[in-house]
Amino acid sequence: MDKWKTKIAVITGASSGIGAAITLSLASHGLTVIGLARRSENVEELSKKLENSEGKIIAIKCDVADLNSIKNAFKEIEENFGKVHILINNAGMSSKVTILDESDYATERINSTIDVNFKAYVHCVRECIKLMKKIENEHAMIINVGSILDSVIPYPHRTIYPTTKHAVRALSEIIRQELIVSECDKIKVTNLSPGAVKTEIASEDYFNSIPHLTPNDIAESVIYLLSTPWNVNVTQLTIKPVGEKF
Ligand SMILES: NC(=O)c1ccc[n+]([C@@H]2O[C@H](COP(=O)([O-])OP(=O)(O)OC[C@H]3O[C@@H](n4cnc5c(N)ncnc54)[C@H](OP(=O)(O)O)[C@@H]3O)[C@@H](O)[C@H]2O)c1
Repeated sequence: MDKWKTKIAVITGASSGIGAAITLSLASHGLTVIGLARRSENVEELSKKLENSEGKIIAIKCDVADLNSIKNAFKEIEENFGKVHILINNAGMSSKVTILDESDYATERINSTIDVNFKAYVHCVRECIKLMKKIENEHAMIINVGSILDSVIPYPHRTIYPTTKHAVRALSEIIRQELIVSECDKIKVTNLSPGAVKTEIASEDYFNSIPHLTPNDIAESVIYLLSTPWNVNVTQLTIKPVGEKF
């Protein structure tokens, strides 16, 4: 990880769960980590946990469901840091509504899940690549946090969540190929698909009833991805807890 020391990483959804664990882990390896979230105060709290590290954690308030909020966040990053080496698209929400639910509540949940879990990934990549192009001869990496539900189909009653994760998986591969043909081949792209991870995304009772990972398990996998040699691109990484049935 020494090669990434002092480099700039941006992560969405840094205020809890998987994103918070990755933020702390990268900063403790000496990176400057810019954490985007609506609860930016949670990201500020994380920096108090950093001990004996050259790394830094910087919080930016951002609602990734709002394109202007994304644009403003990246403008602030450009003004203060000039460039970005790592983007981790991680902010996400679950959605339990079914396609047959005609309520306004269901319409709102469907739209916001698509906005946060998919459209925000597209827009953060678009904004971030502009700043990755400024690193010239250095290397860069984009990690999209998907889900095992990006390839396990049967999951009724959650209609939109697996659909957005399928889209993210396709997006990851398309970005990788598009960057190569656009001569941005120093930017590696990985789609990271975790199984169940005990976080705020679902209830404690739910996670306690099934095998699950911890957010730190996912942070470890990000360190693995970043530690691969420059010529190695792990394009897809799926991580399940031992005993996960689907
Ligand atoms: N936990 C699992 O079992 C599991 C499994 C597979 C994949 N995943 C994926 O892992 C990622 C992280 O989820 P998690 O489990 O760590 O859940 P979490 O603890 O609920 O964290 C979700 C994060 O997303 C952020 N977020 C949600 N809506 C946002 C918005 N509109 N604008 C900005 N940030 C927003 C939240 O920040 P604010 O609320 O502060 O904005 C929070 O930091 C998600 O993409 C999820 O789909 C999770």
